Amino acid sequence: MPDMTTLILDGAATPLLHRDAATRLAGDRLIVETPFWEITVDDHAQPLSALLDRADGTIKLDALAEAVGLAPDLAARLLEPLAEEGAVIDASAPIRVGDAAFLDVFQQECRLMMRALAEQPFWRRILSGQASPTLVFGWGLEFAHFVDSANEYMPIGIAHARESAEIREIFARHYVEEANHAAIFFDGLARCGLDRARMAAAPPLATTRALINLLVEHALEGSVAYAAGFAVMQPETEPTERGNVVSFYADLSALYPFAAPMFRAFERHACLDLDLGHHETVFKSLWNAGGVPLSARPQALRAARSVAEAFTLFFEGILGVYGTAGAEFPRRPARM
Ligand SMILES: [Fe+2]
Repeated sequence: MPDMTTLILDGAATPLLHRDAATRLAGDRLIVETPFWEITVDDHAQPLSALLDRADGTIKLDALAEAVGLAPDLAARLLEPLAEEGAVIDASAPIRVGDAAFLDVFQQECRLMMRALAEQPFWRRILSGQASPTLVFGWGLEFAHFVDSANEYMPIGIAHARESAEIREIFARHYVEEANHAAIFFDGLARCGLDRARMAAAPPLATTRALINLLVEHALEGSVAYAAGFAVMQPETEPTERGNVVSFYADLSALYPFAAPMFRAFERHACLDLDLGHHETVFKSLWNAGGVPLSARPQALRAARSVAEAFTLFFEGILGVYGTAGAEFPRRPARM
């Protein structure tokens, strides 16, 4: 459970029921469920339920409370326990808070977006042990395409970092560290018996390409949009214990022994990123270097949210295509 920075939900907050939270009314009670906990609210369950139904992150709390007949102060108090657990966030908080809190609030939203990703049907299928070899290897290959695209969008991000030599150097060092990581995945897949030439020729899925295109567009936009993507892709967390990484992939290897060399590659890469300190984001470095002015905060937020959305589609694409019986793998390039 991530450590939540407690947000003050005042009348100008724009509450958003987070995507991995679900609500249901059971008689006089409101039950709010996330993958991590369940909370039952006995007081004002009906109006609170109606408020959460409307809490899409664009409407101020004052207006939401009025629409459901609650006093704004009471609505804020009722939402507080949900906000503490990350089931409700103030979608405009990163824009409204002062300099001291911005980085924490922004990174907290990024962590929550990634947490929601882990609840995707793709992950549920993988962790259930019911995924087909095509889905498992399809995931590996699409992920390798994505990691390889660092060589496409990261140099563009460096070239369009125009603030200072210091920032270009931060981005360049990060790129140098990431540049060869795709080889780890392709090697792992090859050790599972996949043909290197066919993997190289296989076009990424449209959803994988869409994610890469988005990262290219953000790189062209400049430092803030470029770095914001990493706040989602490599979210600022406590460094995961190496032992947790090893046991996660050992469990996957036990579920899918045919893909054990691929999971060893995933594990090697995760440990390498840990050693390189990639849990500390380049966005934080950009912020520390003074590269995120007040006026750029909406851009950072939009970029981070769209990358999270593109990642959701990335996993939906993998499940949708490779999770279907008879799916072609590796995909063949179109010949005109
Ligand atoms: Fe990496």
